[in-house]
Amino acid sequence: MTSSSDNNSNGKVSAGVSESAGRDQGKGNPEEHLVIFDTTLRDGEQAPGISLDPQEKLEIAEQLARLGVDYIEAGFPVSSQGDFDSVQAIARSIHGPVICGLSRTHVSDVDRCYDALKDADRARIHVFISTSPEHMEYMLKMSPEQVMREVHTGVARAREHLEDVEFSPQDATRTSMDFLLEVLNEAVSQGATTLNIPDTVGYGIPWDFGHLITRIRKEVPGDYIISTHCHNDLGLATANSIAGVQAGARQVEVCINGIGERAGNAALEEVVMAVNIRGDQFPAVRTGINTEELARTSRLVSRLTGYPVQYNKAVVGRNAFAHEAGIHQHGVLSDRRTYEIIDAATVGQQGSQIVLGKHSGRHAFIDSLEKMGIHAHGDVINQAFRRFKDLADRKVEITEADLEAIVAEEIGMDVVEGYVLESLEVSGGTQGAPKAKVVVSRSGTSKEATSEGNGMIDAACRAIEAATSTGAELAGFSVSSVTGGIDALGDVVIQLKSDGIKVSGKGVSTDVVEASARAYLAAVNRLVRAKSRSTHDHSVLEADTGP
Ligand code: KIV
Ligand code: ZN
Repeated sequence: MTSSSDNNSNGKVSAGVSESAGRDQGKGNPEEHLVIFDTTLRDGEQAPGISLDPQEKLEIAEQLARLGVDYIEAGFPVSSQGDFDSVQAIARSIHGPVICGLSRTHVSDVDRCYDALKDADRARIHVFISTSPEHMEYMLKMSPEQVMREVHTGVARAREHLEDVEFSPQDATRTSMDFLLEVLNEAVSQGATTLNIPDTVGYGIPWDFGHLITRIRKEVPGDYIISTHCHNDLGLATANSIAGVQAGARQVEVCINGIGERAGNAALEEVVMAVNIRGDQFPAVRTGINTEELARTSRLVSRLTGYPVQYNKAVVGRNAFAHEAGIHQHGVLSDRRTYEIIDAATVGQQGSQIVLGKHSGRHAFIDSLEKMGIHAHGDVINQAFRRFKDLADRKVEITEADLEAIVAEEIGMDVVEGYVLESLEVSGGTQGAPKAKVVVSRSGTSKEATSEGNGMIDAACRAIEAATSTGAELAGFSVSSVTGGIDALGDVVIQLKSDGIKVSGKGVSTDVVEASARAYLAAVNRLVRAKSRSTHDHSVLEADTGP
């Protein structure tokens, strides 16, 4: 069940559907390729309160291309000039994925959709109309016969423009089976190359939805790919999508972070990882997704849409690889596979994060101290662990500073206060040496310092060094962009070395000079603490002589 096409020579854009997408991108046997149709920019953007401007949509589209999706549904061109412009801009500048636009069945809508798409390397028109009794009667105010005529005209018109045409009977899961099959047969006979089955109101139940896909495949002959489009009203969007795949669907329509109308759409990251991790259940199915880009894509979409990702969200949530219970922590400290089915690095996340809280045990407590460079034993550790448990009963999150304070009290060590960046001013350009002025404070005392440097970052770091006098040497510097685009967050890591101690600090800001200054100061604070601890190692070891 595949179809293919090429760019034709008469000026129209014709897009290969999944088979050619799979073949062009070296994704292996087309029979086994699961087409990832991302609709974050269309259905995802329909979520209440989300409104992306064309520049933001373009930034997300670039990241989706990096992620390796096969299709980007970029918008609904007839709905507004803004949507038209965004679809057009994406069609003109994104290469790799096929660019798709949504259209109602009216001929003028289809033409407008094509206008927005026509400059794409490869394009698809996605034509839809409602087919359930509820929608036909109360929304469309059309009879089933009228709807059938619309399917005919809409799909036929789209095929005049492109060879890649998708058809969706909206609210398919509440449509009578006979009518649904009739409509789908009509769409195929007019040249639809993908039949998408929307569970528009999230009414489907996995086995039932799977049977629906099986039945359609049996009773609608033709050369098309069958697709799922599942909403999450009952929290079953991912389950329904993979039930569809199990029944033979070879396209899934999904959104990053599962955003979308009401409770959202099936989450791309969940469906892709379900198919990847449970290859035993889907032996013939592969996606072309670069899974290492999942977390980054999720962060970008969350930042630009303003929709936070729930902490416990599968795959991309901040707790997806965090462990608090003592038994779990003990397990993952021995081998992460005890409580993690996904290797966090494969989805761009940091793995096996040990979160100290009231459920944590000694193993995790000692491990956290050791990571901070505190090696305590015997009575010190017993006492400190008891104090930690007391504190954890009263406080949700235990920070490094809390741990340090607990152990410091047990061994009579002073807690070292860190420096705070009060202000940073830099100047530079093509004339004259770059200069920086910083004010840092510690324990209520401020200190100002200025410096020149070989660039503004160098000047800022030198000024901080002048203000803190650690005598440290720079041992490493790296900068990466947390997101794409000109206003991307710069993520800087700086390593410092002094007296055989090596520490690192991290800073994040939209201004890379400020991110560097913050990273430098974070490293200085670690260094100061580490030096203070090493002078107390003696007392820690002495305390080790207890029973
Ligand atoms: O949920 C839905 O039915 C849709 C269609 C337009 C495919 O988003
Ligand atoms: Zn939808």
